[in-house]
Amino acid sequence: CWNVDNSVNKDKVYPQIVDAAKILQLGQVVAFPTETVYGLGANAFSDEAVQLIFQAKGRPSDNPLIVHIANNNQLAELVEEIPEGAKKLMEAFWPGPLTIILKSKKQVSKFVTAGLSTVGVRMPDHPVALALIEASGLPIAAPSANTSGKPSPTSAKHVFEDLNGRIAGIVDGGSTGVGLESTVIDCSQEVFTILRPGSITPEMIKKVVSNIEVDPATVKETEAPKSPGMKYKHYAPDAQMHLVNGSMEFIHKLIHNAKSEGKKVGILTTEENINQYKADVVLACGKREDLTTVAASLYDCIRQFNEENVDIIFCESFPYEGIGIAIMNRLWKACGHSIITE
Ligand code: TXA
Ligand code: MG
Repeated sequence: CWNVDNSVNKDKVYPQIVDAAKILQLGQVVAFPTETVYGLGANAFSDEAVQLIFQAKGRPSDNPLIVHIANNNQLAELVEEIPEGAKKLMEAFWPGPLTIILKSKKQVSKFVTAGLSTVGVRMPDHPVALALIEASGLPIAAPSANTSGKPSPTSAKHVFEDLNGRIAGIVDGGSTGVGLESTVIDCSQEVFTILRPGSITPEMIKKVVSNIEVDPATVKETEAPKSPGMKYKHYAPDAQMHLVNGSMEFIHKLIHNAKSEGKKVGILTTEENINQYKADVVLACGKREDLTTVAASLYDCIRQFNEENVDIIFCESFPYEGIGIAIMNRLWKACGHSIITE
């Protein structure tokens, strides 16, 4: 594990980052922080290196990876023509939590694209990630650095819990900021489509390019998702979690019923409501009045329930607006789509 703090200066040389970059050049996998979640990186041009990512995570091979770059010059070796609208999105949101899917060049490993003709690219807004990519001189393929199906890691400790012994190293840059994975937008078709909601919201995107759609599968399980990764159970705690669409009194009843069945009950709420519940484990993820704080601590809270060994978790709902759309999408998936309505 290499420790680096977030005040990394782009023009200085950091021996830890040089070491980690060398390991990437040698074809090994290294976890590193981004502004969203920790990524598990490998050389995007090397089939062997990219396969190590899938092995370490236990990730299904039909789920493509995002390629991370540190400057626009790296785009030329990854993607074919870039539509005007995609250029505008890059100017508006890069570096930042927006992954843009474009037609892929042949030299990108087929394991990165999972055999598709497209590739997702993003420039992360994190000094350590940018310095590492720059030092390696490579485009870095990186999914979230968790065991497949678990919540994405927002700290080096989470990566260690999941992948210790399975990867070459971790660059520890402290906690990530956003806490939820990047927004994914497919720009390879005439009409751009948001495949995964994130902190860059549809409203923000619509201000830059007008003609966009949101894949309905991000909110309704009846639809077949367009993004391979969205169909898997994800972000899940060990216990069954249920998203509750109802009043606090209704949640009190659910707690009562579960307790009378002898279950150890967990509640996922926010700081405003933490004293309102009598359950075995009551966790607050951020403040409801500022949903960015909920996003930032959501995955850490879900992981804490595993340490507490609860049998069942009830989770409050959040407003379906702004970053609330991404929060609800992840909760809905973490619950295996189980919503209890009053
Ligand atoms: O914030 C993030 O995006 C983090 C950090 C590390 O950058 N990465 C991340 O990667 O969340 P991952 O692999 O956990 O999620 C990638 C998502 C999946 O849902 C995948 O199916 C989708 O992006 N994706 C990647 N390439 C695609 C493509 N060519 N077409 C459609 N979906 C694609
Ligand atoms: Mg992931």
